[in-house]
Amino acid sequence: MSDTRPRRTFAVISHPDAGKSTLTEALALHARVITEAGAVHGKGHRRATVSDWMAMEKARGISITSAALQFVYRDHVINLVDTPGHSDFSEDTYRVLSAVDSAVMLVDAGKGLEPQTLKLFQVCALRGIPVLTVINKWDRPGLSALELMDLIQEKIKLRPTPLTWPVGEAGDFRGVLDRRSGEFVKYTRTAGGATRAPERRMRPDEVPAEDAAVWADAVEEHELLSLDDADHDQRRFLAGETTPVMFASALQNFGVAQLLDLLLDLAPEPSATLGVDGSIREVADDFSAFVFKVQSGMNNAHRDRLAYARVVSGTFERGMIVTHANTGRPFATKFAQAVFGRETTSVESAEPGDIIGFVNAQALRAGDTVFVGDAIKYPPVPSFAPEHFMTVSASDISRYKQFRRGIEQLDQEGVVQVLRSDLRGDQSPVLAAVGPMQFEVVEDRMANEFNSPIRLSRLDYQVARTTDAAGAAALAGKRGIEVLQRSDGTRLALFVDQWRANVTARDNPDILLEALPAGGA
Ligand code: G4P
Repeated sequence: MSDTRPRRTFAVISHPDAGKSTLTEALALHARVITEAGAVHGKGHRRATVSDWMAMEKARGISITSAALQFVYRDHVINLVDTPGHSDFSEDTYRVLSAVDSAVMLVDAGKGLEPQTLKLFQVCALRGIPVLTVINKWDRPGLSALELMDLIQEKIKLRPTPLTWPVGEAGDFRGVLDRRSGEFVKYTRTAGGATRAPERRMRPDEVPAEDAAVWADAVEEHELLSLDDADHDQRRFLAGETTPVMFASALQNFGVAQLLDLLLDLAPEPSATLGVDGSIREVADDFSAFVFKVQSGMNNAHRDRLAYARVVSGTFERGMIVTHANTGRPFATKFAQAVFGRETTSVESAEPGDIIGFVNAQALRAGDTVFVGDAIKYPPVPSFAPEHFMTVSASDISRYKQFRRGIEQLDQEGVVQVLRSDLRGDQSPVLAAVGPMQFEVVEDRMANEFNSPIRLSRLDYQVARTTDAAGAAALAGKRGIEVLQRSDGTRLALFVDQWRANVTARDNPDILLEALPAGGA
């Protein structure tokens, strides 16, 4: 039997250390986690086989891989899709965001809007995803709540519309004013936040004397906010004009249940999706899904490769024969998995909004569509403008076969873009990245997963533009410019700097030179 409860599928975006892992664990604590098989993706709980590459991830305290956590809350199935925490992986984040209906932006109250939060937020805006903002770590001294609202307005150009307002300044978190009901939600600390934080709702006339002064401040600010057009408006939120804001302490479990309630009340549910040809796939139509990420090397013991897909329409049942839209070929889904933290379990069925992993589906690439019944193809995920370039070659030429296989795999996963030209040959292609940390992942995985240590050498290019065959011919041999081809066929003209790119475009109006979406910091 398929579980047809309503879905909410979202991702948390934040600067590293803002508390994403802590929040994820707290959310799972408040909800009933569907799969018992694995650990929640969080520090101290990672039980899955740790490859060297994951050791690197662990050492850095960031999440490079993506997985989904599924749980039930108030008779809804919630899919929390994990995103990489570092802006160097914003291209990856962008792909993940194609799989969610909304995002929660986690902000550290002490630090405000950090550069990477801003970058990730811009990625959300690019995708037109509604964003809920959670101001975290309110149990610690930090900026004032009004200051934080100003920062959001100024830096993100989104109207913050707080749904809760803190009672007590940062570092003295007594509870929140629920701006929709006017009630005081008072928190009680628990040791280490280990269990659900008890909250008591009370009417304004029930506020205890010891909280009266801070309550009065909160009420005053709440009234100011209303005068300042900062009340929640569902239409404006869904249109990406406003962001509902709430205050929390993930560590103390304060505000976590409220976040779940907000997701259910406000965040959009899975809805009809447009194909590349403009056709509409309703959620109730035949099964279709969109691959948003391909990942291998999750487990060193078994050579596995997972293609993560979001179910867009219909019910998925394991064993179904689906059609791969890009090749027109059928394939059997005997080995579909639910992805949970680092662990995977066999999945029997899935509904729109759910994330499934196809095991060893070699043909699937990020951006691909699979379907049953009427053909559908969803728009591909665009790639970002790379800003860092390196040539790569095998340190040990006798391992060239492993080298080729590894580079091909990482290319298919989209870990980096791989560029080639006849001039350079295949021994030493060019790697192009949005952020330099992508090269570290390549280095690590090539050595540990593919047994082919590599040599990287920096190239002096900074800017990439797409061009065509005629452009490539016209630009050949020009100083400070090189044209290379990506494995998807796209030709990229690389320039030593912005100035050269601009002058070339100005002096050669006939040459096609188009900018890609900017993703880098
Ligand atoms: P991340 O996944 O976004 O990188 O952040 P993570 O949850 O790992 O949290 C980063 C640090 O911030 C952790 O402390 C965590 O305990 C702390 N933290 C998270 N939420 C809150 C909060 O609401 N209040 C307070 N006061 N701290 C919070 P750490 O010392 O780096 O790690 P640990 O030793 O506590 O695990």
